[in-house]
Amino acid sequence: MSRLPTAELHLHIEGTLEPELIFELARRNAIVLPYRDVEDLRKQYEFTDLQSFLDLYYANMAVLRTEQDFADMTSAYLARAHAAGVRHAEIFLDPQAHLVRGVPLETCINGVAAALRDSEARNGMSTSLIAAFLRDRPAEEALGVLEQLIAMDAPIIGIGLDSAEVGHPPSKFTAVFARAHAAGLKCVAHAGEEGEPGYIWEALDLLGVARIDHGIRALEDEVLVQRLVAEQIPLTVCPLSNVRLRSVDTLADHPLPRMLARGLNVSVHSDDPSYFGGYLDDNFAQLTGTFGLGTEQLAQLAANSVRSAFLGAERSSTLLDEIDQWRDSQPAD
Ligand code: HPA
Ligand code: ZN
Repeated sequence: MSRLPTAELHLHIEGTLEPELIFELARRNAIVLPYRDVEDLRKQYEFTDLQSFLDLYYANMAVLRTEQDFADMTSAYLARAHAAGVRHAEIFLDPQAHLVRGVPLETCINGVAAALRDSEARNGMSTSLIAAFLRDRPAEEALGVLEQLIAMDAPIIGIGLDSAEVGHPPSKFTAVFARAHAAGLKCVAHAGEEGEPGYIWEALDLLGVARIDHGIRALEDEVLVQRLVAEQIPLTVCPLSNVRLRSVDTLADHPLPRMLARGLNVSVHSDDPSYFGGYLDDNFAQLTGTFGLGTEQLAQLAANSVRSAFLGAERSSTLLDEIDQWRDSQPAD
């Protein structure tokens, strides 16, 4: 079966660091890891909640020191995403996670951007970069980093908001997002992953975001669901992430089918694929196995991802045509 063509809209590039690459970069940079080997590191990938994952995610970033390290991580992701059927990727980078370790903004931005630059020529995948701010750090720090990004004319299309959600509502970042809007940047935010539905309201009304990342807790608030449906606000849902971070008990308990049935504009993404047991193709394969999604539903999810992307009309229409062709090439359900 040919791969379902999709747009990846919720992907943290640092969450694509595979254990093998972590060890390779550690060797290159003479960093001693607190794990014996790749197997020993993999054994740490048992999470109880978002914070337990974030602790390891940030710790493993210690191996990223040079532009080449950031470029190698990004190239490895692009190759894997291409194999998964990704045709367009909007990629999150966490600049503050590197700045606090003494890695300059230019190093991480230029390294990732260098790898993205030849993605279209190499394998026909369009890409763009989104700088995500860490909500468990001060808003003043985020604003300072945003000003630096704007001053250096960084190759970003927008900003996002991630990291530990509970206790760090979107309202804390109103000024940061106002500045981003004024600079003509697109705005998205994680909300309703572990945080209450009120965080989704705030992201929409106070931050003016065009998409909600995760948003699975929206179903707890009927008025919110009605608004999300009426305005067709994109929710970038990451099923394997939600299972591994224990937001849901098992994939069979995942709200995705209910969200689709309610008419929400959901699409499927991989979040931090090296930590959560799978890339976009793995997410689709497991969803198909668990819920028996058919050709029409898969094509619908893929089309939602393309329509929710920050793409021009021409590229968007090319990718929607590819999805139609994929649908027509599938055996009848
Ligand atoms: N949630 C919040 N912040 C993150 C995540 C996530 O799943 N991955 C990387 N940063
Ligand atoms: Zn995420």
